[in-house]
Amino acid sequence: ISDADRDMMLSRIRDVPDWPKPGVTFKDITPLLRDAPAFARVIELLSDAGPETGEPVTAASPPVDLVIGIEARGFILGAPVAHRLGAGFVPVRKEGKLPAETTTANYELEYGEETVEVHRDAVAPGQRVLIVDDVLATGGTVSATVELMRAAGAEIVGVNVLLELGFLHGRDRLADVHLDALLTV
Ligand code: PRP
Repeated sequence: ISDADRDMMLSRIRDVPDWPKPGVTFKDITPLLRDAPAFARVIELLSDAGPETGEPVTAASPPVDLVIGIEARGFILGAPVAHRLGAGFVPVRKEGKLPAETTTANYELEYGEETVEVHRDAVAPGQRVLIVDDVLATGGTVSATVELMRAAGAEIVGVNVLLELGFLHGRDRLADVHLDALLTV
């Protein structure tokens, strides 16, 4: 990532203090999304952030069959990445939102548990999937999504996120997948 791209993205991600609860600073990507050239550039970068070799997903590496987008901001970023890669799009959603039969995975929150789901017939064994989300915080959401993909027999090409909160060490929970973050703070 060039310094110009990095500055462009960082200047359009807004810190909202004490949201959704006191003591938490929320990373708000809506200023970036509403800026057409910035949004386009982020989709380009998220599509190219490479697996294993660091090569563009689009070029040297084998094709991605499916982009897996995580509710809700992972939908906004994942769908255009899928379109750009010529891949299909599969939503991973919070519990109770998907209409057909699902597979579920739980993950720990600070207090309690959260559940994510995917349609049971959404991913076929051996399909190559790229997981996309906006922010990697504790890594719970992405690691539950990785679990769903493994249960489906998918081949996980990588995980591409816009922003990694390095101080939460979410990456440590994802040691066995290729994780690319455009920005780390
Ligand atoms: C946020 C973010 C990631 C997740 C990261 O979503 O978009 O999906 O949290 O946190 P983690 O790494 O600690 O699991 P959120 O749960 O706020 O859902 P939303 O996008 O539906 O608002």
